[in-house]
Amino acid sequence: MAVVSGEALENLATENRLFPPSESFARQANAQPAMYEEAAADREAFWARQASELQWSQPWTNVLDWTDAPVSKWFVGGKLNVSVNCVDRHVAAGIGDRVAIYFEGEPGDTQTITYKDLLDSVSQAANALTELNVRPGDRVAIYMPLIPEAIIAMLACARIGAAHSVVFGGFSAEALRSRIEDAAASLVITADGGFRKGNMFGLKSAVDEAVKDTPTVKNVLVVRRTGQDVAWNSGLDIWWHDIVGKQSTTHAPESFDSEHPLFILYTSGTTGKPKGILHTTGGYLTQAAYTHKNVFDLKPETDVYWCTADVGWITGHSYVTYGPLANGATQVIYEGTPDTPHQGRWWEIIAKYGVTILYTAPTAIRTFMKWGDHLPQAHDLLSLRLLGSVGEPINPEAWMWYREVIGGNNCPIVDTWWQTETGSIMISPLPGVTATKPGSAMGPIPGISAEIFDDAGKPVGLGSGGYLVLTQPWPGMLRGIWGDMDRYRENYWSRFKNTYFAGDGAKWDTDGAIWLLGRVDDVMNISGHRISTTEVESALVSHPTVAEAAVVGASDDTTGQGIVAFVILRAGSVDGPGVAQELRAHVAKEIGAIARPRQILIVAELPKTRSGKIMRRLLRDVAENRTLGDVTTLADPTIMNLISSGLSNSSSDDD
Ligand code: PRX
Repeated sequence: MAVVSGEALENLATENRLFPPSESFARQANAQPAMYEEAAADREAFWARQASELQWSQPWTNVLDWTDAPVSKWFVGGKLNVSVNCVDRHVAAGIGDRVAIYFEGEPGDTQTITYKDLLDSVSQAANALTELNVRPGDRVAIYMPLIPEAIIAMLACARIGAAHSVVFGGFSAEALRSRIEDAAASLVITADGGFRKGNMFGLKSAVDEAVKDTPTVKNVLVVRRTGQDVAWNSGLDIWWHDIVGKQSTTHAPESFDSEHPLFILYTSGTTGKPKGILHTTGGYLTQAAYTHKNVFDLKPETDVYWCTADVGWITGHSYVTYGPLANGATQVIYEGTPDTPHQGRWWEIIAKYGVTILYTAPTAIRTFMKWGDHLPQAHDLLSLRLLGSVGEPINPEAWMWYREVIGGNNCPIVDTWWQTETGSIMISPLPGVTATKPGSAMGPIPGISAEIFDDAGKPVGLGSGGYLVLTQPWPGMLRGIWGDMDRYRENYWSRFKNTYFAGDGAKWDTDGAIWLLGRVDDVMNISGHRISTTEVESALVSHPTVAEAAVVGASDDTTGQGIVAFVILRAGSVDGPGVAQELRAHVAKEIGAIARPRQILIVAELPKTRSGKIMRRLLRDVAENRTLGDVTTLADPTIMNLISSGLSNSSSDDD
């Protein structure tokens, strides 16, 4: 008989709690119960209604063209300019004085940017890009800290029809180089550096290293953020303030086809090579704006919205740049880490700006739980009226803590499931409409069709689990993988016929709520960031002392998963005190600090089947201190004893 621990019973009790929307919230909510029926009755008409909230310079003739599936076309024939939708139209509507961005730098410097200011800056930046010969369809890499210029750069690209490829500032020079190369970017926009954990970090130095081997790059545009010394290549480098500052604040925007590329964003897949996820214009903006308005219940006149994501991730694209600005929101952006200069910084920011809507990740929530209730309790958080979560499954305890300690039991929580590929939120409660359960993303939002399939592609019933799939095209869906449409078809559309396979496991509970269960492929989720096991393995074997490596994601109380690597050294290389440390640093250099393994175990052998396949399942058992599963298919079953006994004297730390 299975033994159920007291803790599991408590979780069960929490999971089964149901929080219906409060009457007062429901009364004022943007979302309405009828939206579900409306969308179900005529999905395309529903999406057309959402799209018509944007400003189009030419109307579409056809809502959806799916004849070239799995590549969709939305709002066919329509034309618009994304930056006009995010900026100009608000100024034209007379709300140019509304604050678009409250910027909070880590050292404490601030900026208040109105929509009119934003229009001037985006116009100047667009003029500068044109002067630098950036043309519609060109690719621009953006490698920046979270400062206003990052958003301005994205909007300027969109304004002139160039596709941006934002590369998270925590990625290494090598990761940047490979992304610049894959997209054949002609311009890199960066900064000298940024502020993080009380220190300056460098970005320009990484760009210098990356562009040595990327001949497509004609210029590097550099924002001065920290004032640190940087090397200067006068043939390539230009200061932002030199070229952008002198431009006219007027720029006549051109309109682009609804299917014109808006951006590429690289994300990890199951191979070592990141995928350039391609998003286009009209459908993407429609869904970003619709979800931002309805899932966060945005009231642009009164709300102060704060999404804590960096623009280097899809959340920063859809819910810092495009969704909020399309809706004329006032938002906060914060450059730094939550514990600088003290662990109450976020709560201080919420109190300072009167933040009403907070959107963050479970890993942050669990970190704050660990730091203690006294920190948020020392600040006035009463302005908050809605809380959101994204990036990984939120455990019921963290959900309850978020609700009670941050939300004062007074804010609906929206647990939003989506992906870089989906562009915008897909599965989430609608605040004011959906009763929520702690830890469940509840169900697909109106306009979206999700299912859970078994191995054979049959829907599983209520109370059962399987693979999460999306059964109908949606406006914000990816249009492909940059330069590799075969991989697009293979990756997402071959597992089940005519159905998008998300790579996540999920289950229906008996009430019909969806519970996300994590990835079912070799993709790890570290603090809400996707990293493939193969990518880390490739980084490890590129080190001269490593013969072979196997990487698994082991569950971690704070980060969701932690990276654990099993490494076989080359003959002649000796395991010593510094080896694991050096390998961890090597991975950070190859990919970025977020991919640095939590733990590296030097082993003599890896568990393999007779056909040579590494059995990660067993390695995961070891990494999570579980009793080993079935070892009978191993070529050499004794290997696992050796590996397990090595665990106790392994090298690890968590810096
Ligand atoms: O596994 C799911 C998890 O994050 C993956 C997508 O990662 P990425 O493309 O980096 O985008 C993250 C931000 C949208 C998904 O395949 N994930 C995301 N949100 C949730 C989630 N898992 C459970 N619950 C969520 N709310």
